[in-house]
Amino acid sequence: MKKVLVTHQLPGDRIHHLAQCSDVNVWVGPGLLSQQALREELPGCSGLVCLLTDRISAELIDAMPALEFISSMSVGVDHIDVAAATRRGIPVGHTPGVLVETTADATFGLLLAAARRMSEADRFIRQGNWRAENAWSPDFFTGKDVSGATLGIIGLGEIGQAVARRAAGFGMKVVAWNRTRKEVPGVESVSLDALLAQSDFVSIHVALSEETRGLLDASRIAQMKPGAVLVNTARGGLVDEHALADALSRGDLYAAGIDVFEQEPVPDDNPLLHLPNVVLAPHIGSATTQTRTMMADIAAENAIAALDGAQMPHCVNPSVYDS
Ligand code: DGY
Repeated sequence: MKKVLVTHQLPGDRIHHLAQCSDVNVWVGPGLLSQQALREELPGCSGLVCLLTDRISAELIDAMPALEFISSMSVGVDHIDVAAATRRGIPVGHTPGVLVETTADATFGLLLAAARRMSEADRFIRQGNWRAENAWSPDFFTGKDVSGATLGIIGLGEIGQAVARRAAGFGMKVVAWNRTRKEVPGVESVSLDALLAQSDFVSIHVALSEETRGLLDASRIAQMKPGAVLVNTARGGLVDEHALADALSRGDLYAAGIDVFEQEPVPDDNPLLHLPNVVLAPHIGSATTQTRTMMADIAAENAIAALDGAQMPHCVNPSVYDS
């Protein structure tokens, strides 16, 4: 039987089917598989089932002549050098679709929490500050209205559209920018410049690639409407975190809700960690038990298809099947 390395224990049933049709080596920890351990465990494996925390570089791929497929339990594949895999004819699987609604829920949760200062308020009570001399008053913890505000969605893929549906329920005006223009009912397509200038809330939903890295750089952040809120549940590398922190501490922007970081786990010296008006989350946009189980099942299905010599049901580089 062919050897498959699985870099973490996965939920769901399909992983057991994978174990029936291959010689599976599951990394059981402690902790995440290190780059060093990945290099040591992968030689001789035909397949790799990995997480977004595993860096699958061109160098690693080139050093593994036996490798025939990679299946990631994630929709994003920026942790994998897909071009290098494609050059080798290695299909790369991912898990689109199943995390759309869950990630849109988390996006909206961060948007509301940032607008209404929920994390700040939570800390205020826990730290014992809610006292008679520091109690309810007309301007006590006042925030920013969501209802009736304009939401700008950068990237109108499935998650962006799911966020737009939620915004409609909040009576928001929704504008969006997508690299290739998309017509979605209830959403006005605008240029990126116009979106940044008019949106009270901006939510980013594009994949991280060489073209989109730093999409919201210092100059684009400076174009945002004064007092706007930024939400990022896509990838940290899309936003210049230092420029964002500067804009937030100057008061140019009102707040931010950030689930993803340039470096994860986020280092203590990341300036966003030290601002009261940033709601933080540790990359949990898709983190519900049901969604994570569906993602693991799809990752296993992609691997099983590859072992069968069939096309992966969800492959990011289907051109490898052309020849
Ligand atoms: C993904 O699958 O790429 C998401 O970031 C997980 O939350």
